Order: sequence, then C-alpha cells, then structure tokens
Amino acid sequence: MDIVVPMSTLHSPGRGRDRWQDTASAAGLLADDGSVAVTIFAEMSALAVRTGAINLGQGFPDVDGPEYVKQAAIAAIQEGRNQYAPGDGVPELRGAIAEHQKRHYGLDVDPATEVLVTTGATEALTASILALTRPGDEVLTLEPFYDSHAAAIGMSGATHVTAPLLPGPDGFRLDVDALRAAASPRLRMIVLNSPHNPTGTVLTRDELTAIATVARERDAIVVTDEVYEHLTFGAEHIPVATLPGMAERTLTISSSGKTFSLTGWKVGWVHGPSDLVTAVRTVKQFLTYTSGSPFQPAIAQALADDDTPRALAASLADRRDLLCSGLEAAGFTVTRPAGTYFVMADASGPLARLGLRDGVELCRRLPELAGVVAIPAAAFCRGGSPTAKALASHVRFTFVKSPDVITRAVERLARGLRTATP
Ligand SMILES: Cc1ncc(COP(=O)(O)O)c(C=O)c1O
Repeated sequence: MDIVVPMSTLHSPGRGRDRWQDTASAAGLLADDGSVAVTIFAEMSALAVRTGAINLGQGFPDVDGPEYVKQAAIAAIQEGRNQYAPGDGVPELRGAIAEHQKRHYGLDVDPATEVLVTTGATEALTASILALTRPGDEVLTLEPFYDSHAAAIGMSGATHVTAPLLPGPDGFRLDVDALRAAASPRLRMIVLNSPHNPTGTVLTRDELTAIATVARERDAIVVTDEVYEHLTFGAEHIPVATLPGMAERTLTISSSGKTFSLTGWKVGWVHGPSDLVTAVRTVKQFLTYTSGSPFQPAIAQALADDDTPRALAASLADRRDLLCSGLEAAGFTVTRPAGTYFVMADASGPLARLGLRDGVELCRRLPELAGVVAIPAAAFCRGGSPTAKALASHVRFTFVKSPDVITRAVERLARGLRTATP
C-alpha cells in the first residue's frame, strides 16, 4: 500500500520552514509557491538526454581512472573486504592521506586522530558545516560558489555571506576589500574552494593570505574544498593550511573522484586538528557511519601515484585550450582557467545577436540552437546578488571530455550560433 503524506504535514500553517526548505532555498531551488525545482544540473542533463545534445554541463570524465586502481578494488571485493570499514576509514587509506599531504605540501598530519575518510568531499563538507555552525553564525564563501556549499549552510541554519570573485585582466580574482567588509563579528566559518569551481581560478598566495588574516582576526574556522588540487595548469595550488597559523583552524577536504577520474566511488576525506575532526566525525558517523569498504584500499594505493594526476592535468590543459579557442571562434569571450575542469565564458556577443536576456535563457535554448548543453553562472550565485548581476551573461562549460567530443561541440556552437536567427 502506498503511504501518502498529506501536504498539510509538510506545510502546516504557522509552522515556518523546515530544514529541507532552508536547504532548498539556500541552493536557489525553493519557489515562492513552496514548490521545489530540480537543480539546473539535473534540468540541463535531462535536456541533453532528451535532445541528444553534447553535455558540456556536468563535470564528470568520459574516461575512467587507471586500470590498476579498478583491479585493486576488485581484488578487495574478492578478498572479502565487503563489510563496514572502520568509521574513520581503513588505516591504510588514512596513512596514505597523511603521507600525501606531507609529500605534496609538507603538512604534518596524524593519521590516527586527524584524518576522517568520508563519502566523497560532499559528505566531508556537509558534516563540517553541520558540526561547527548554527543559526546566528555567518559563513562566508566566495561568489560564485559550488552549490553544495550553499545548501549545507542552509541545512545548518547559519547565514550565508559572500565575497565576489569577478573577472578582470588576470582572470577571476577575489575582491579583498569586499571580503573584509563581509566578515562581521558573527563570522564563524569561511568555506573556500581552490582550484575553484566554476571559475577555474587558483587562489594566489596574496589572496589566501588576505583570507587567512580575516579568519584569524575573526577567530573563524576555515573549511577548504581542494578536490581539484592536482588539476592545475601552471598555477601553484597552495593549501590554506600551509599558511602561518592556519593549520590549527583549518579543515582541509579533498576527494579521489577528480584526481583519479573515479567520481562514482565517492571516496573523500577531511583532515585538520583533532578537536575539529572529532566534531566532524561526531556528525559524519550519523550521516553514513562509513562507506566504500573495497574502494578505500584501492584509493590508498592510488594516492602513492603522482604520475596519473600529472598526466591528467597535462591532457586537461590541452583540452582547455581546445575548448577555449573553439568558444572564442564561436563568439564567446573566455577567461582561461588555471585549474579544474571548467571554463567560464561570457556570452554577451551571442546574447546580443540572438536577442536573449541572459545566460539562463541561452542555456535553455542552446540544445536546440546548437546541440550543446552548458550551465549558466547564475546557478552558482545567489538570486539577485551583485555577483549574479555581474555574471548574468556568463555560462560554464566543462572540458573533461574527449578532444573529439570537444571538437564536435565547438563546431556545433560556431555553426549553430552563426546561423540562428533572433
Ligand atoms: C568544488 C567541488 N567540491 C566537491 C565536489 C564533489 O566531490 P565528491 O564527488 O567527492 O563528493 C565537486 C564535484 O563536482 C566540486 O566541484
């Protein structure tokens, strides 16, 4: 028998909003009439399937990670590593994470007390935000931001404040004065993301130093999402935890999904001082407790391998150039990213030619006009914010697709946008 939840249970008069509504609202998904929209990513991916368009919207690789890592997971399954892994993660993976942080960044991390394996970076982020913030606190992110950061802040009941990351001659750069102005005495946490989705910016030492100064002045915790740490093109990725006085107030989050092209395995982690990690563990253990038992030893092996991510970054740099040149030829103005899978393109030219209002309208029409799917920058901004207005004409494309797919997509864009009529 179906269980029918009467809508009055969800919308009792005078009850106010539940956390799911705060979450939906924070991610820009709650309509005025109380209905919830699907994310723009889901909408655009469905549109790609329906129209047969090339999906340069969602960022997932079209080629799997290394065979030896897949074989290691298969072997782990066959060896019987199929029951609950320890809540903190298997010891060999915690050890490999600590070793990775030491080898790449000189960070001293105790694998016994300062590392927690999570269900992707997403769980690490949400558990960190839920564990350490509450209503009345302010949580600062850069804007545009990755949507799950905003959703988790909404879930915690804290207030989301932002500092803009806007395009200029040196790419998308942080407005340091705006950052200082946004940091009130109620600031509890700064959620960073570098290399940054959606802009592809890699924050410079000066920008990170400004952020670190604000965090220390306001006694705020920094949560840093570094899932694209190895996917940089010439720019140096600097973990904020390596800056003076920052390791003791920073939770560093990463994931094997992007580094090893195994996004579906959802093996992520967070590390930081043991008191902060204890707080995150307390929440995390009641979200999933543990996950991915046979994948964890496989990722432990992979983390010793620097060649795979280096080769991926080199091939992504070529694919970035292919996509950027093709977008320019199709009339977009691009800001070349220094990291990640993504490029932000200003569509002012095509918008003016086609008489379209903004990037949202363009993305909804792009499958029919050109057979390509992209994501509007608005999906990464708060509705009506100054940053949303400044980036209204921008759209995000991914280049984590084969050169052949990218070539076909940019040919379609050039042809489709040239021949389309207003
Ligand atoms: C900035 C950022 N953080 C986190 C994630 C999700 O990571 P995971 O799949 O490990 O949960 C993504 C995926 O697109 C991302 O772009």
